[in-house]
Amino acid sequence: MSFGVNAQLSLESRAEALRQEIRRHEHLYYVQDAPEISDAGYDALMRELQQLEKDNPALATADSPTQRVGGAPREGFVKVRHSAPMLSLDNALDEAELQDFDRRVREFLGGEPFQYVAELKLDGLSMAVHYSEGAMRNAITRGDGVEGEDVTENARTIRSLPLKTDGSFEVRGEVIMPNAAFQKLNEDREQEGLPRYANPRNSAAGSLRMLDPKVTAARQLDFFAYFYLINGIPALPSHSENLERLRGLGFKVNPASRVCADLDALLAFIREFEGQRETLPYEIDGVVAKVDSIDQQRRMGWTAKAPRWAIAFKYPARQAETVVAKIDVQVGRTGALTPVAHLRPVVVSGVTVSRSTLHNEDEIARLGLAEGDTVVIERSGDVIPKVVRVVRQGENRREFVMPKECPVCGGAVSKPEGEVIWRCVNVSCAARLKNAVIHFASRSVMDITGMGDVLVDQLVDKGVVKSIADIYTLSAETLAELDRMGAKSAERVVAGIEKSKTLPLPRLINGLGIPFVGERTAQILANTFGSLDAIRDADEATLLTAEEVGPKVSQSIRRFFEDSRNLDLLDRLRAGGLQWTHQKVDRSGGPLAGLTFVLTGTLPTLGRDEAKAMLEAAGAKVSGSVSKKTSYVVAGEEAGSKLDKAKELGITVLTEAEMLEKLKSGRA
Ligand code: IVH
Repeated sequence: MSFGVNAQLSLESRAEALRQEIRRHEHLYYVQDAPEISDAGYDALMRELQQLEKDNPALATADSPTQRVGGAPREGFVKVRHSAPMLSLDNALDEAELQDFDRRVREFLGGEPFQYVAELKLDGLSMAVHYSEGAMRNAITRGDGVEGEDVTENARTIRSLPLKTDGSFEVRGEVIMPNAAFQKLNEDREQEGLPRYANPRNSAAGSLRMLDPKVTAARQLDFFAYFYLINGIPALPSHSENLERLRGLGFKVNPASRVCADLDALLAFIREFEGQRETLPYEIDGVVAKVDSIDQQRRMGWTAKAPRWAIAFKYPARQAETVVAKIDVQVGRTGALTPVAHLRPVVVSGVTVSRSTLHNEDEIARLGLAEGDTVVIERSGDVIPKVVRVVRQGENRREFVMPKECPVCGGAVSKPEGEVIWRCVNVSCAARLKNAVIHFASRSVMDITGMGDVLVDQLVDKGVVKSIADIYTLSAETLAELDRMGAKSAERVVAGIEKSKTLPLPRLINGLGIPFVGERTAQILANTFGSLDAIRDADEATLLTAEEVGPKVSQSIRRFFEDSRNLDLLDRLRAGGLQWTHQKVDRSGGPLAGLTFVLTGTLPTLGRDEAKAMLEAAGAKVSGSVSKKTSYVVAGEEAGSKLDKAKELGITVLTEAEMLEKLKSGRA
């Protein structure tokens, strides 16, 4: 099959138009935080481009938005030398130190007029990214300042970082993990029995250095640019102009940067953002002040470690000292035993803190912590504050010992080899059950209004609920008999239970509490296998075919479905009338049900995915190859062998318009 020049051109221009459109939307969404289209609209564009590039590999370009996550996991990172050292900043820890800095600058410039640019000091890690002729060439971590690691593949997954722009230059800036992404990551890790990351900076650093770019991609890192360099030096005459240029090139530059005429203006900026620190969506640890003029910067120069023309004013760490009054152990819904420190209440930057998770016994050993000790606690990005270190041992300190049995049910606990978490093995353990039911009923899972901690405590303590499935046997009468439950609230809960039966399958899968299977994996499993039965019956090899499902997850799923107690649970849930199949389009009742279509060539207005989705929504099957079973072939421009085959087999060939007509009339 040979491509006509024009047809090839039109495919190419469609691909290019899609790329430009997707880039524009990525910029609106990730850089400007002002999306113009829905996620679904964006996904549709992306799918069309992916399909186009898949069908015509010659059209794929390295700077295509489809190429953010590519390549297989690596063995390690290559060391690369920086164009100019990536040095650090001197710190000012209080106003007096900032005044000293300002005095030094004024003295150095001997009365010349100058101004500062104030910026937030983002708490991440710095990275240099090189572009040549508009294309991202490589990205290098700071490393020791002279030499860093080539993390290009991972940097490409940062959606606010353009893969294509204009010119040849270097941009330096900060890679951060927003607090929301950090909290979600830690929740997922906790659920998976993995240690939590200490703060967003550590998790940004860890995520950028993942050997598998797919893992980095899932971490939702962000990049704020602050240096625009050519041959290692700022390209434009002032720092503020460089920032503006970076904005123009499509980079994300922090909106909180301000030209300050003098020290007073700088101090005002510092105070203003100290107040906003609690509400910013990411962590900052201070403010950076830079002399604006690059010529003045050049004349002031550098010490061995830092520029003389800049300073980092550090906000106080959000830390406090307090006493660990007691350490007890909580049992989570997967049976994980988590030691929790009960603290003498203390206020840390406006928030009273009285508890902190200690994660596991290894962490307690690492801290050298015992009850009665005085510790430093810190708030950083996380909702849960963290014990940083022991500052003083208590006089009557009591060593913590991990209980040998479950503190709630008294049953056996076990710790699989290589893991750090002890787990209660009793699936009917009240604590496990309570947490499992609370998770099942929670808003993002089965969304059963009114079924919160207080109600679940009673239901489990009174023996009414012994398994998740018992939720579906609850009546308004039973509920109304409980404390603090009127007839009205009981009715409301029952209505919530009824409604939950109609919720899509991924929510139910998430609700089952299979270790390592959270919201996202549940969605993928439902999409891939279509029903709970198919997931239950899939062997490990089959499970591994699902996107993002690795050996750990597939083993965990198998283990879950091999346990007869879980199979009983499933039977009872099914009897309760829950959604067992994924709400894909119900093809059987559609107007084009029973028909098989094959799409070939470029359709004049519809993308291939779009056309496919429309046909499927009408109940038709869309196949990739023409056979005797094919009902219609829809042919666009430059249709190739599939069209030939259709003619050979005498299959009716439709144009896009004819296909749309059929969809409209529903007549086949
Ligand atoms: S300027 C030599 N600007 O702070 C110039 N750094 O303590 C140094 N940082 O390594 C970089 N926000 O990782 C600069 N707006 C900002 C910054 C910033 C955060 C980090 C950066 C640097 C460290 C120096």
